[in-house]
Amino acid sequence: MYQFVLITHILAATLWTGGHLLLAFGFLSAALRHRNVALIEAFEQRFEPIGLPALVIQVVSGLWLANALQPDWSRWIGFSDPASSLIFLKLLLLLSTVALAVHARIKLIPNLRLATLPALAWHSRGVTLLSVLFVVAGVGLRTRGFG
Ligand code: HEM
Repeated sequence: MYQFVLITHILAATLWTGGHLLLAFGFLSAALRHRNVALIEAFEQRFEPIGLPALVIQVVSGLWLANALQPDWSRWIGFSDPASSLIFLKLLLLLSTVALAVHARIKLIPNLRLATLPALAWHSRGVTLLSVLFVVAGVGLRTRGFG
């Protein structure tokens, strides 16, 4: 069961983080260079139906893995030990990701046009950085810290 959950977690991570790296360094730079909003709309239409379920899988599998590593949930909030600190970091990254995702869905994507493209660009770079930090924190949990 543990290996199955970890494999699921890593596969969904490749989708979420990989998709955002492709958006930030592929589609976004081309859309800004060619002032072409349609490139982003096409990406969002294809990525969102698989990206959001991948994030849900990350949360469910991540909480399961965190419980396997540290069954005392009260220690998830705080820096009492390396594993708890990294789980806390994951929860903070999740909170930030959900806040940015909701803001994009409500404010930016419905009114996407050339004038709002730079705002979406910074926004996507933020979500991409958070998604990479998720991977770094995950490897830190796997290797029991970075010492
Ligand atoms: C988009 C969000 C996320 C991404 C991209 C992500 C990515 C990763 C990666 C790449 C690993 C390393 C796997 C390995 O080296 O074997 C990992 C491990 C882990 N992640 Fe996540 N993660 C995400 C969300 C979460 C969340 C929300 C939690 C819950 C607190 C979480 C908890 C864990 C735990 C506990 C491990 C260590 C598993 C172990 O080695 O036993 N992750 N994550």
